Amino acid sequence: MDYYRLIGPLLRKTPAETAHTLALWALAHGMIPPARNIPYPTLHTKLWGLEFPNPVGMAAGFDKDAQAVDALLAQGFGFTEAGTVTPRPQPGNPTPRLFRLEEDAAIINRMGFNNRGLEAFVRSLRGQQRKGIVGINLGKNKDSTDAIADYVKGLAQVYALADYITINISSPNTPGLRDLQGRQAMESLFRELLGARKTLAMESGRTVPLLVKIAPDMDEAGFSDVAEVASGLPIDGIIVSNTTLARPPSLRSHHRAEAGGLSGKPLFEHSTAALRAMYRLTGGKIPLIGVGGIASAEDAYAKIRAGASLVQIYTAFVYQGFGLIGGICSGLAVRLETDGFASLRDAVGVDAR
Ligand SMILES: Cc1cc2nc3c(=O)[nH]c(=O)nc-3n(C[C@H](O)[C@H](O)[C@H](O)COP(=O)(O)O)c2cc1C
Repeated sequence: MDYYRLIGPLLRKTPAETAHTLALWALAHGMIPPARNIPYPTLHTKLWGLEFPNPVGMAAGFDKDAQAVDALLAQGFGFTEAGTVTPRPQPGNPTPRLFRLEEDAAIINRMGFNNRGLEAFVRSLRGQQRKGIVGINLGKNKDSTDAIADYVKGLAQVYALADYITINISSPNTPGLRDLQGRQAMESLFRELLGARKTLAMESGRTVPLLVKIAPDMDEAGFSDVAEVASGLPIDGIIVSNTTLARPPSLRSHHRAEAGGLSGKPLFEHSTAALRAMYRLTGGKIPLIGVGGIASAEDAYAKIRAGASLVQIYTAFVYQGFGLIGGICSGLAVRLETDGFASLRDAVGVDAR
């Protein structure tokens, strides 16, 4: 049964943030039944030594405090990304700060990294089985005076629990955060992080992949700087992209002028163009995760063809529920077969070359 057909209409009548809290609570308390486990052999992907059963992941920001990692994996995701978590707990911006743009199949949010902090995050994650791939997305506190120290602290504290770690320098809702995407700032940050990772890898005998998540709102020179820093260091993966500050003229909802990051359908083209640019600029050598506006198998396939080895989704689940995962996986498998690709890997970047 598609559970969302029952509760979806109710949730959508509830204020956006309350609906999110309820959905997360229901998941974390086992009230949403797991999906049937259907294997998709052609969608199986190995990256960074990790075996992804399918390429569809839950994007960061849904499960900020890692409360529902097991429940999310049981919905059929190939992986889930918990966070963004900051070293200390923080309340985020005043409410309302989350807006559904129903007519546009979009969301604007200015949550501002509301989360319970690293200590509670780690405790919650330790209490779960983590039978699947779990990425952890790190941020910095709003009032922190040393961004690098915040990220290094996060890295050390979550290292043992993470399959991969994402450094989020692209949320539009923490003042100054996106400045870390500049060439020098990004290079200094990642030099420190890669140095810290080396020590952690020696101590633990495990090298956890380090990814960066970027904004779609950069010019060609900005993307080129990110690509050069990422290739030079090197960084293990790039997530393209976070929400956008742009407001396409096509937006119809009365919420369209709210401040914050826009996600969902109106972000699709913008973020896919950024993804294609990053694939070209990195010569296809760094694995990319494509995120932004995916709402169907067709959208997910377009991201893969534009250069994504994996994809992530957030906003479309708000409108369509988790039943979407199965639909995307089966649709992707059909498209790969129709186009004569023996595996997902063969389709990565074919539209970007
Ligand atoms: C309510 C909300 C909160 C989010 N919080 C985070 C976050 O904490 N960290 C992060 O890296 N991205 C966050 N994102 C961005 C998503 O992970 C994703 O990059 C973006 O929404 C584009 O994907 P989508 O169009 O499928 O939603 C958030 C998005 C939404 C809608």
